[in-house]
Amino acid sequence: RPRVLSGIQPTADSFHFGNYLGALRQWVDLQDEHEPFFFVADLHAITVEQDPKVLRQRTRRAAAQLLAMGVDPERSAVFVQSQVPAHAQLGWVLQCLTGFGEARRMTQFKDKSAKGGEGAASVGLFTYPVLQAADVLLYRPAFVPVGEDQRQHLELTRDLAQRFNSRYKKTFRLPEPYILKATAKILDLQDPARKMSKSASSPAGIVDMLDDPKASAKKVRSAVTDSETEVRFDPEAKPGVSNLLTIFSALTGTGVDELVQRYDGQGYGALKGDLADAVVEVVTPFRDRTLALLDDAAHLDAVLADGAARAGEVAERTLADVYDRVGFLPGG
Ligand code: TYM
Repeated sequence: RPRVLSGIQPTADSFHFGNYLGALRQWVDLQDEHEPFFFVADLHAITVEQDPKVLRQRTRRAAAQLLAMGVDPERSAVFVQSQVPAHAQLGWVLQCLTGFGEARRMTQFKDKSAKGGEGAASVGLFTYPVLQAADVLLYRPAFVPVGEDQRQHLELTRDLAQRFNSRYKKTFRLPEPYILKATAKILDLQDPARKMSKSASSPAGIVDMLDDPKASAKKVRSAVTDSETEVRFDPEAKPGVSNLLTIFSALTGTGVDELVQRYDGQGYGALKGDLADAVVEVVTPFRDRTLALLDDAAHLDAVLADGAARAGEVAERTLADVYDRVGFLPGG
């Protein structure tokens, strides 16, 4: 079975609908036909300052949400990145293969360092995409299920894999991004010109999976649309309405065309109201399952320890090949 791998940062108390529809649902679906490795990217989280206590809490919350969503630890290795040291170790080797200019071209660094200025950003934030390449390449996956915002990082990953393979010896598999077009970029409900983002969206623009379901329903009903009344799918001219249709279609499995017909002539209120109900139906049991998993921290930690052991075995083997090919002494 081909491997799949992906990660998510523990930088908020809850995942949001962009994470869920853009990536996490695909993680769950891909489990059947693949050998999956899914992790909480805590090494990535510290590229910006984190309160240690909060980070630990959020890492457990992230793991609990993955399980609540349907990531099945029987089939998937679910782990925390810092518990598999090979990520940081391969990260260093790949940093030495990355051009400074190449790293500089990564748009997420430009976006994230824009606020405080480049001088205030950490070097870790700068080299973050290279660590991400290491995350991926260690497992030699066929596919990496992510949202559109990760595409550039995956291209760098492929470039670095190719470079290593040709400079030394074929070691890495070139992974394919697995990005579902329909849900690749879920938009901010208040500012549909931007993606829904835990760092950039206003609280009203972001629907958290663990929010009080009533609050989420309210956010959906208050989503920004446009001054027309016609329900039509047109991401250019009507990004707000199109985003709602995308979310609705993804949640219910009803095609966008069918939704457009259903709400023809009804205005936006009916669409928003029904979508709010669909959201509540998804988040209510999800929240209950997550909270139950968090109540049993010992079980959760045991699942993660098992995941780290399984992932570590695969990662160590790749790292040993890499160290050998680079010219390090054996037995380190
Ligand atoms: P992160 O934690 O920002 O997001 C997790 C996943 O959610 C997707 N996503 C979205 N998809 C659609 N619409 C949105 N508005 C939206 N917002 C977020 C992201 O594309 C991502 O798939 N660097 C990664 C974590 C990472 C990783 C990896 C991923 C670290 N190492 C190795 C894949 C492979 C990140 O910060 O994702």
